[in-house]
Amino acid sequence: MPHSPSLDAYQLIREDCCVGLRNMPEASVDIVVTSPPYNLGIAYKSYKDKLPMEAYLEWTMDWVSELERVIKPNGSFFLNLGSAPSQPLMPFQLAVAIGELWTLQNTFHWIKSITVETPKGDPMSTGHFKPINSKRFVTDCHEYIFHFSHEGNVSLDRRAIGVPYQDKSNIGRWKHTEGGDLRCRGNNWFIPYKTIRQRDKDRPHPATFPVQLAEQCIRIHGVHERSHVVDPFVGLGHAALGAWNSGVARFTGFDIEESYLKCAREQLEKNAGEPAGQAELFSD
Ligand SMILES: C[S@@+](CC[C@H](N)C(=O)[O-])C[C@H]1O[C@@H](n2cnc3c(N)ncnc32)[C@H](O)[C@@H]1O
Repeated sequence: MPHSPSLDAYQLIREDCCVGLRNMPEASVDIVVTSPPYNLGIAYKSYKDKLPMEAYLEWTMDWVSELERVIKPNGSFFLNLGSAPSQPLMPFQLAVAIGELWTLQNTFHWIKSITVETPKGDPMSTGHFKPINSKRFVTDCHEYIFHFSHEGNVSLDRRAIGVPYQDKSNIGRWKHTEGGDLRCRGNNWFIPYKTIRQRDKDRPHPATFPVQLAEQCIRIHGVHERSHVVDPFVGLGHAALGAWNSGVARFTGFDIEESYLKCAREQLEKNAGEPAGQAELFSD
């Protein structure tokens, strides 16, 4: 059952996250869900997304080491990363570098679009498919979510985002389900973007993740009445909305671009009237 958060405890701060994190007390954060700039030349409003690889890695280790300090011993750090045909190794280079400080506990795949066969054998496609024009590369339909923890042994609440069993006949006899009708969701998370009409108005940011992505990370880690969630690169505030929906008591988000934060604050305020878990979110 979600707790009831208060908007006063949701802070969206215009600040370089390296500075903001440095000012936070040690072991004060339960969960970080974030998607940093990927260094792929994305056109953000303030940030220049094209550093030499060495400088990008150095900068990454700067904020990642602050996270190591502020996240509690049993906390989780969920890192969403995508790649580009020009830089296919980037997510792995980052994961290996971060692995010097953190333990990689799980790897999730955020699937944006998929084609499956119906029981009759017909192909059925669903999700948001953004085709690329290339003879060499296929269209990229997924990103990574690396789940890091300090020691790799954080207990998860797998059934908080569980899926119902298809065959329910044996559920009552299975000990591991404790009589419940939910199994682990696994590590392929199909989360499509919502369809939007006008990019500038409905999603004024070039690189967002869906609210549901943040929500699944938060819920699988587990939420208690004093949970504190942080997103150092909060953008339009989708992690804040995911935290709100999950009943998280306290949220801190940083971004250097005020127009993104303004949008995030507006959405949070709009949703604050809704009970946790029911907030209807703007297009993501
Ligand atoms: C990939 S986007 C995050 C989008 C967010 N997950 C969402 O769904 O809206 C990365 C964000 O990092 C911000 N940013 C870049 N450098 C930053 C820094 N040093 N501190 C805080 N934010 C920064 C950019 O302005 C951008 O909004």
